[in-house]
Amino acid sequence: MSGDLTTLLTRELGADRVLRDEAQLEEYGRDESGLGPYPPDCAVLAESAEEVALVLRLADEHGVPVTPRGAGSGMTGGALPVRGGVVLSTERMRRVLEVSHEDLVAVVEPGVILGELQTLVEAQGLFYPPDPASLAFCSLGGNVAENAGGPRAFKYGVTREYVIGLDVALVGGERLTLGRRTSKGVTGYDLVGAFVGSEGTFGVTTGITVKLLPLPQGVATLLAVFPGITEAGRGISAILASGFRPRALELVDKNTIDHIRARAPYPFPTDAGAVVIAELDGEPEGMEAASLRCAELLESGGATDVVVAQGESDRRRLWESRRLCSPALKEAHRHKINEDIVVPRGSIPEMLRRVERLTELTGLPVATFGHAGDGNLHVNLLCDEDRTRHDVARRIDRGLEQLFRDTLELRGTLSGEHGIGLAKQRYLPLEQSPGLIAWQKKLKRLWDPKDLLNPGKIFP
Ligand code: MLT
Ligand code: ZN
Repeated sequence: MSGDLTTLLTRELGADRVLRDEAQLEEYGRDESGLGPYPPDCAVLAESAEEVALVLRLADEHGVPVTPRGAGSGMTGGALPVRGGVVLSTERMRRVLEVSHEDLVAVVEPGVILGELQTLVEAQGLFYPPDPASLAFCSLGGNVAENAGGPRAFKYGVTREYVIGLDVALVGGERLTLGRRTSKGVTGYDLVGAFVGSEGTFGVTTGITVKLLPLPQGVATLLAVFPGITEAGRGISAILASGFRPRALELVDKNTIDHIRARAPYPFPTDAGAVVIAELDGEPEGMEAASLRCAELLESGGATDVVVAQGESDRRRLWESRRLCSPALKEAHRHKINEDIVVPRGSIPEMLRRVERLTELTGLPVATFGHAGDGNLHVNLLCDEDRTRHDVARRIDRGLEQLFRDTLELRGTLSGEHGIGLAKQRYLPLEQSPGLIAWQKKLKRLWDPKDLLNPGKIFP
């Protein structure tokens, strides 16, 4: 069946657009989760909404699974074709169709790289805040599928807050326009809200309308040094309790700092037990006073030193270094089991205390960093043994289950930004009731009755 479809797609779209080479298919069977490979039967490089719809119509007629794929930067296996079939890549749909100053919106195709859109709008004095660490290579389509967030979510929120309109193609080939171009709008159900974060299981995004903001003219970035993670947690709590609102409030623990120091373009202090990065924005005249206030708050929590990044290039170096956290840990270890739990803000110090116990429980080193102001922590179990070995797998599983149970006990949630995908689905029932899972599956069946679109994701 699937072979017939590959031949048909090749005839319709041309051989250069339907990849069948074994090495290439292995690439399309991987993403940043480290799971797999799950090579598909073929990978289609769509160049237009019509072509996306065509693939979805033919796949439906042949009963073949389709897995949509953006840039392959997902961390939970959302783009992996676990049931084979077709990978439908939107990487070639890279046009920015419009940037409107008047309406404060941008209209883009799903393959547009996030960092490129940001550079483009910033050059025009506009601002698109969502900033996942993969911004140099992740695509807007993937951001929509995962409802991506990053450091600036602390003040500005995540992708869902910015996507106001979507063009989608459904299994069977029907095309719909959801949402609007206006800043407000409550006509009908909020289907844009439902599609954003649906992990590519409802439909395939072919066009995205996002709202933009005026670019803040004043920015200041501070790095606070703490003796340890407990004190850093106190510094974060001091900021949260004061009502003072930086645009980012990030935590990096000692183990992570030690992994990134050698390659980080920003010199991380050698004596740091943990660092907190705070970034403020607003009117340029107010930046100095705001920086002083922020430094005082961090010091009141136990910071031994607070350094202010000097100018734009220093600031960029600091963020580049922060974005190295994940790649540096990944390169240094055979397995990096990366979580992205979230706890309510008041429980951050307690959650950090609980995370510290994980090494004792698992015998594995743990590195923690992330968006602490949001209570969103990337807790990484680092493992240099073979994780398929029964005893190693058991220790990892015990650690993850404890991490999730602690998170939920503190009224948190399993995932703040990476989604459930393949990696976390067996833990979903820890957080959600059977009834809630059943209703979500009904919703999925409404859009995709034969379970052909990105099957095998989210639900256990
Ligand atoms: C980050 O915050 O650096 C990203 O979410 C990547 C990661 O968690 O590993
Ligand atoms: Zn993150």
